[in-house]
Amino acid sequence: MTTFVVNPGGSLNGQLRVPGDKSISHRSVILGALAEGQTRVSGFLEGQDSLNTLAAFQSMGVPIEYIAGSEGEGGSLVIDGVGLHGLKSPENPLDVGNSGTAMRLMAGVLAAQKFPSTLIGDESLHGRPMGRVIDPLMQMGAEISSGADKRPPLAFAGGRTLNAIDYTTPVASAQIKSCLMLAALYANGETRIHEAGVSRDHTERMLRGFGVDVGVNDLSVSVHGGQKLSATSVDVPADISSAAFFIVGASIAPGSSLLLQHVGMNPTRTGILDILRLMGANIEITNERSVAGEPVADLRIQHSRLNGIDVPVDLVPLAIDEFPVLFVAAACAVGETRITGAAELRVKETDRIKAMADGLTKLGVNITELPDGAVIQGAQSLRGGVVDSFEDHRIAMAFSMAALVSDNSVTVTDCANVATSFPHYAELASGIGLGITTSDGSAVS
Ligand code: S3P
Repeated sequence: MTTFVVNPGGSLNGQLRVPGDKSISHRSVILGALAEGQTRVSGFLEGQDSLNTLAAFQSMGVPIEYIAGSEGEGGSLVIDGVGLHGLKSPENPLDVGNSGTAMRLMAGVLAAQKFPSTLIGDESLHGRPMGRVIDPLMQMGAEISSGADKRPPLAFAGGRTLNAIDYTTPVASAQIKSCLMLAALYANGETRIHEAGVSRDHTERMLRGFGVDVGVNDLSVSVHGGQKLSATSVDVPADISSAAFFIVGASIAPGSSLLLQHVGMNPTRTGILDILRLMGANIEITNERSVAGEPVADLRIQHSRLNGIDVPVDLVPLAIDEFPVLFVAAACAVGETRITGAAELRVKETDRIKAMADGLTKLGVNITELPDGAVIQGAQSLRGGVVDSFEDHRIAMAFSMAALVSDNSVTVTDCANVATSFPHYAELASGIGLGITTSDGSAVS
């Protein structure tokens, strides 16, 4: 049981490269495994989520050499791809832990295999909706059984022929879209997927990098079956979702000036920057470049007064994972912030609207939950206190940043899952000025 204890006040200064992008890391393993030839990955996120995906493909017979990175660098992988039809039947159920991305993307691959398989995860994942991928995969011809209410575990019968579908997703979701794009590689004909809003496009970009022809037309994508993937190299940028904690921390803490290096700037992910700038944040983007098909830049963040805003609904999907820390930004902005159109937050690793409302209330913030968001009254400073992360990595890290503007220390309980997306978070945060210690023996000064 890991607890964060964070001293009140302080500022964030210096420079930092946060770990590799989680979405891109998962995809690098999946596509590298299904490709023909040797794929090399650098900057791989050594978090539990992406390591579980790696282990799952190893247990399906894919030779993957994993070289742990020295601090700040990320891991390296050498994947000897087995081709679309080279996976082997795993001996045991594939355990993807806390990761919805791993489960939903792998569902698209496993539904199309000759062999049966089962996907399992932790308690949080077993509470998350999987009907959104089960339904379209079954329309393609897959046979899948699940727990009650279409929750995990997912059991794939295997040995079914998949046929292309023309499908409109019930919610804009990169996980659904990517699941179906992967299944489409195995299906007869051309699969078309239409979305009501923008979702992250890492799968489209990376599939193209592996030589696959992907059609993109506004909010629709298409993939025809039978295309092979050719190995390539993938350099994983730093995860903007992990950078987000520091971007908000430096914005709210007086005296901060922080440089974040090599941050992924994919336009389907940069909603956090747009929202914070609307609130008055001081974020300078420099050294823009492109790395393996993904835009990357360095970010300089200086403290600035934030104002409450109505968060534009069209920016919500572009910042969906950043809302826990955006709630903290709103809590110390001047005036009211209104968040709507974010009902998906209720089906993440925990119900993130409820978790943030519970914790911010304990810290003395006036916050009202909405079914699809919240209304937050900004306060001059927070009270401090003890809050629960509900075992959600992003809730834990968001509340640790709240200490920067609190009168008393902030204690965050149940923080072990921070390791799913951000290994060594406390050490890195401590190194640039956050007064954070952990209670599990890995205390940092
Ligand atoms: C992800 C997509 C998003 C995001 C998740 C990672 C991905 O979920 O919240 O953390 O890697 O495809 P949805 O696609 O369900 O919105």
